[in-house]
Amino acid sequence: MINNTYIHIPFCHSKCKYCSFISYCNYKYVDDYFKSLTKEIQHYYKSESQKTLYIGGGTPSSISITKINEIIDMFKFDENDCEITIEINPNDINEKYLSELKSTKINRISIGVQSFNNDILKIIGRKHTGFEAINAIKKLNEAGYKNISLDFIYGLPNQTLENFKNDLKLAINLDISHISLYGLKIDKGCYFYKHKPQNLISEDEQSVYYNYACSFLNKNGFKQYEISNFAKDGYFSKHNINYWHCGSYYGFGTASCGYNGNIRYQNNTNLKKYIENPFEKETEEVLTYNDKLYEAIILGFRMACGVNVKKINSQFNIDFEKKYKKQLEEYKSYIKKNKNGNYYYLTRKGFLLSNCILSEFCDD
Ligand SMILES: C[S@@+](CC[C@H](N)C(=O)[O-])C[C@H]1O[C@@H](n2cnc3c(N)ncnc32)[C@H](O)[C@@H]1O
Ligand code: SF4
Repeated sequence: MINNTYIHIPFCHSKCKYCSFISYCNYKYVDDYFKSLTKEIQHYYKSESQKTLYIGGGTPSSISITKINEIIDMFKFDENDCEITIEINPNDINEKYLSELKSTKINRISIGVQSFNNDILKIIGRKHTGFEAINAIKKLNEAGYKNISLDFIYGLPNQTLENFKNDLKLAINLDISHISLYGLKIDKGCYFYKHKPQNLISEDEQSVYYNYACSFLNKNGFKQYEISNFAKDGYFSKHNINYWHCGSYYGFGTASCGYNGNIRYQNNTNLKKYIENPFEKETEEVLTYNDKLYEAIILGFRMACGVNVKKINSQFNIDFEKKYKKQLEEYKSYIKKNKNGNYYYLTRKGFLLSNCILSEFCDD
């Protein structure tokens, strides 16, 4: 039984200079894409009631709500307990869009703000201003949305710690419930990869921004519940928590990943190939016992609460403390045990070194 779904909408009006996500600026494929998406959902979805549906991108808000709603209506939902999220770009919010949005079951909004600073927004190729982002949030509030998440990036070209502090200060004074923070990563495929900005800060400097943000947000009512995510009580993202608990999920649309508890797959990342055959997988792998154990450890340590020792012991028939004695000892200043002794978690310093620390838990 799969109760969580991710749907990828791979269209953006323009490409931001830091972004390597799968998205295309050619909207002539939209109709064909939605036909294939519909076929894929009809083929695989077994009518289970969904607890979460996440419509991400790309820029889902650049597509008509009618089209998005036709997809949402293909699913059954747990009416009292469902989280339906859409990613929205600030420049897509207007009165018409809002009134159409209100007629859907969408109850969680994720807005890509990145920064409120206009100079930075321009440099990174965003098509909105800081003022437009604030205005979009206020309009969503007026329309009754409470569950609003903002995405920010730190380490952007020309960004100073002062700029970033200002972004966070502005954010917490808005009527929002969730913040996701990402350190800038320049991956193959984005504009900045070939045209590296001169004035980027180092990873060590990024950690100064991260530390500041963690303390500031925690002080201001946003609990850090995951390495990059902060929320007010009651607003932790159910969709993402399912990922971090190694839950199963459908992934529909080009480049989407899915997991049924045993097999992990990724759909075709090439738009044309996906449109031609939405059933063909680009990759498909059966996870071994070791894969699943390593994943449970990595994802568990991403969360602030950490790895649940009892759960992992019974799920994998291990003695966690015995099996990983060496690693827990070696990284004891970064991995701590909670008061009740039933969770091991990474400290903030541990979060910053998580890639290095967690690779030591890999058995292969
Ligand atoms: C998949 S993107 C889609 C969101 C939406 N299209 C938007 O741009 O507003 C989700 C988030 O990932 C983050 N992101 C994308 N590329 C990034 C990069 N290279 N480094 C750090 N964060 C990145 C941004 O904060 C972005 O809002
Ligand atoms: S950051 Fe968002 S809007 Fe910009 S190109 Fe990537 S997916 Fe599109």
